Amino acid sequence: MNNREKVWIFDTTLRDGEQALKASLNLQQKLQLAHAIARLNVDVMEVGFPVSSPGDFDAVHAIATNVKGPIICGLARTIDQDIIACGEALKAAELRRIHTFIATSPIHLQHKLRINLETAISMAHNAIKLASRYTNDIEFSCEDAARTPIDDLCRIVEAAIHAGATTINIPDTVGYAVPAELNSIIQQLQHKVPNIDKARLSVHCHNDLGLAVANSVAAVEAGARQVECTVNGIGERAGNCALEEIAMILSTRLNQPTKVGTALYSDINATEIHRTSRLVSQVCHMPIQPNKAIVGANAFSHSSGIHQDGMLKAQNTYEILSPQQIGIPSNELHLTSRSGRRVIQHRLTELGYREGDYDIEGLYKRFITLADQKGTVYDYDLEAMIYVNQLQASCNEPDLQPYSLTFLTTTTISHQLASATVSLSKGDYTTTEAATGNGPVEAAYQAISRITQQTINLIEYSLTAKGQGEQALGQVDIIVEYQQQRFHGTGLATDIVAASVDAYIHILNLIQRAQQISAFKNNPLTPIDTKRAS
Ligand code: KIV
Ligand code: ZN
Repeated sequence: MNNREKVWIFDTTLRDGEQALKASLNLQQKLQLAHAIARLNVDVMEVGFPVSSPGDFDAVHAIATNVKGPIICGLARTIDQDIIACGEALKAAELRRIHTFIATSPIHLQHKLRINLETAISMAHNAIKLASRYTNDIEFSCEDAARTPIDDLCRIVEAAIHAGATTINIPDTVGYAVPAELNSIIQQLQHKVPNIDKARLSVHCHNDLGLAVANSVAAVEAGARQVECTVNGIGERAGNCALEEIAMILSTRLNQPTKVGTALYSDINATEIHRTSRLVSQVCHMPIQPNKAIVGANAFSHSSGIHQDGMLKAQNTYEILSPQQIGIPSNELHLTSRSGRRVIQHRLTELGYREGDYDIEGLYKRFITLADQKGTVYDYDLEAMIYVNQLQASCNEPDLQPYSLTFLTTTTISHQLASATVSLSKGDYTTTEAATGNGPVEAAYQAISRITQQTINLIEYSLTAKGQGEQALGQVDIIVEYQQQRFHGTGLATDIVAASVDAYIHILNLIQRAQQISAFKNNPLTPIDTKRAS
């Protein structure tokens, strides 16, 4: 088809998505996600807000240096120090974009910024001029655009393009718009802004009313040619437009000319969707609802007898997409303790992993232990092990003496306190303590805190079954606060008390590492940053 038009996919998982997480991601996790998102072949990836914290600056800088392919973008308010931090952090990127924003709605101008529209226009103008010293790819966003009077919006958009903005983004920051409204805003901008042909129009929809994807579709039908989105739709509050949904809508429904517009396409490599979605869910500790479109566990499972019968006769009776299109492997291979490293590597390649994604020796050790316990190791076990291995590996640097578990026993008698005895080793020392608690996990945690003499504040504890039935592995994720910093620990085992202890030990090692880095920088632990964009 000749006259198809491309819709750019702007991924903001590592900015809008990351800022909504309960515990920030560390540099290694951000890099891991950035590489995975680049493999999706997004056009632009927004990877942080450099001025907000030294950690964000370092992450944007590291991604700009190491991740090739997409345009790497950083966020900045229309303030000199933001633009400078953003420009500096992005310097190493082959392709870079500065994304600057200011609120334009009366609610935000009067109550939040306490300035008038004229001042906002002049701040936008100055910021764009300053950004153009670093790059000629500049995006300007009118925060809360969907609640901004159209004439005000047209004025600031015209001024931004005049100053040098090459992309104009129209956010529905609070997820308030309905599709017809957003469609009309995009149409009016195209009719009323004289220099609009010098910029690409973009939308950024939040999901407060569950309309983020529908609103983005309405905007592209009206002429927007960039959609901002996140993997699994993570983001502020109810989240953002889901990348996998907009990508599959473009390739399944908007790929033909319609009554309302030309045929559209995106460059997304859909076969990476499944794997990236699982990775983002794991790393961000954000479970995916089973009935979630495209990537939910039930998205391709058929329960009703009539449906199953239809599927056996012709797949398109009840499936508009095939699981293979989004990269779900068609066959499951059951691995046992007799399977060697080669077989595991082969299976991981089929699942879309590259050799650099995992450490085969560490993984194989875990694999054998698990295969001895469970008999059969499934794909989901392998993926969970890769994730936990990677996460915990960051604590095993040579100069750190990590804690490790040498002994654990718990006793529970119904309606009575549980007791636990735990031995932890660190370097040449092993310490053993016993304690009681309301359940075996609490008892084990009490024993550990006696050993370490550290008081940590448990903010969240969650247990997820990885796999099905009695064979499932328990993955425990805990978030704790220690000296004003939040840490996320993960443990995986067939026994949930052991998984809980594993997660606690992971946290102890993360705290040690943070203390070491902090001592190295001759600084106290950096408090979690509170300065966040919307
Ligand atoms: O939701 C929003 O308005 C934003 C902007 C910073 C683009 O995230
Ligand atoms: Zn947003």
